[in-house]
Amino acid sequence: MRTPLTAALRRIVLLPGFALGVSLAATPAAAQELRDQYHTAPRDTVSQEVYDGWKQYNLNCARCHGEDVLGTTIAPHLLVSLKPAGPVNTKEQFVQTVCAGRADKGMPSWCALGMELPTIDKIYSYVKARADAKVAPGRPAVKRTG
Ligand code: HEC
Repeated sequence: MRTPLTAALRRIVLLPGFALGVSLAATPAAAQELRDQYHTAPRDTVSQEVYDGWKQYNLNCARCHGEDVLGTTIAPHLLVSLKPAGPVNTKEQFVQTVCAGRADKGMPSWCALGMELPTIDKIYSYVKARADAKVAPGRPAVKRTG
C-alpha cells in the first residue's frame, strides 16, 4: 500500500539521486580536464629508457639541478656540463661522477645511496637528450612500439 506520504518521501530520496546521475554523466570530460591541468600534456615521445630517466631525474636530481635540467643557483647546470667542452662530456664521466658523488661539495654519492648503475644510465640518456635538444622541457610520453 502506498500512502501519499511515502510517495513524497520517495521523490525526496530519488531527486538527488537523479541529479547525481546527471553530474556523474558529465564527469569523464571534467575528469580529463582536471588531469590536463594536473599533468601538462606530453610534448615529445621518447624511448622507455629516456622516459624512465626523466622520472628518475625528477625524483632524485631535479631538486638541486632544476626541473627540465634547467639549473638552479645551488648546483651546476647539467646542460652546460654535458656540452662538448663541458666538464662532464662523456657518458663514463657522467656515470662515474653520479655514482661517486662529491660529498664534500654537496653532490650526493648515489651508488652509496643504493642507486643502481642502470638507473644512472637512464638518467644519462634523458639528460643527454635534453642537452642535445632532442627532448623539450615538460613531461615526455613513451613512444609506442610495434
Ligand atoms: C642535494 C643536491 C644535489 C642532488 C640531489 C644532486 N646533485 Fe648533482 N651536484 C650537486 C652539486 C652541489 C654539484 C657540484 C659539486 C661541485 O661543486 O663540484 C653537483 C654536481 C653534479 C655533476 C657534475 C657537474 C659538473 O659540471 O661538474 C653531475 C653530472 C651531477 N651532479 C649529476 C647529478 C644527478 C644525475 C643527480 C641525481 C641522481 C644529482 N646530481 C643529484 C648537488 C646535487
